[in-house]
Amino acid sequence: MRGAEHRGTVASYIPPLASVPVAKFGLAVVMADGSVHAAGDAEEAFSIQSISKVFALTLALGAVGDQLWNRVGREPSGSAFNSIVQLETEHGIPRNPFINAGAIVVCDVLLGRLQPREAIGQMLRFVRELAGDDTISIDEIVARAEQETGFRNIALANYMRAFGNIHGEVDLVLGTYFHFCALAMSCRQLAMAGRFLMGDGRVDGHRVVTGKRARRINAVMMSCGHYDNSGDFAYRIGLPGKSGVGGGILAVAPGIASIAVWSPGLNEAGNSHLGQMALERLVQRTGWSVFEPRG
Ligand code: DON
Repeated sequence: MRGAEHRGTVASYIPPLASVPVAKFGLAVVMADGSVHAAGDAEEAFSIQSISKVFALTLALGAVGDQLWNRVGREPSGSAFNSIVQLETEHGIPRNPFINAGAIVVCDVLLGRLQPREAIGQMLRFVRELAGDDTISIDEIVARAEQETGFRNIALANYMRAFGNIHGEVDLVLGTYFHFCALAMSCRQLAMAGRFLMGDGRVDGHRVVTGKRARRINAVMMSCGHYDNSGDFAYRIGLPGKSGVGGGILAVAPGIASIAVWSPGLNEAGNSHLGQMALERLVQRTGWSVFEPRG
């Protein structure tokens, strides 16, 4: 991208992510009228990683409603995505559903009603339906690599279990969490899947969530979607967004567009460096920040 001094660093904790070329870049914008604008590597599937936490949150709210908030907060953590430090003083209740600890609790909530295989199947059906694309899949190589190296997540889950905030078997909860992280989607598929958040919760006339719930999910994305970089993302871009260490970002311009960008080089907080820059430029040129006066 013109004007970028560097591209950031590709995630190296598992081989399937470490081997992704840093030069990849894709962008897809789905407008409220359904038109799609795509550029670069927008059709290539990548590991959506923590962006799946948005879809998992949506499913968990659908399953248990606002009771979810008894087990996970909705405040920014100001900490790294895989941090354990707050859990001790906050009695095993993660700050929000978008840090790893919070997403692990969300998986445990889903497993209150489903077996892991069913929960993974439900997630796959959900994103396929949202995106209108049955080719979306889970990369089993990524899921296995996550499992083999996920020592911090194993620690987080066990620590929360000690506080009584994980009810199921830790192995099963984590197996589900790792499969969610391993969803592979292209920018086009991701932007299509984010459509339910840009309007009143409906896609193609079909209700996914209520308008109120869509607004609230957006609020959590705005305040917590980029870990300890969330304030900076809101300051520079001014859109609800969620990042993943695969280098993807899903951002929502309510009433206007659902946007997905992918560039695998990350900044220090684990968010796509060029992805953020691209969104910043897009918003500057279009005036799509939610803080832009309208009307
Ligand atoms: O669970 C983990 O730590 C990895 N699968 C990374 C998740 C992720 O994308 C966090 N953030 N940016």
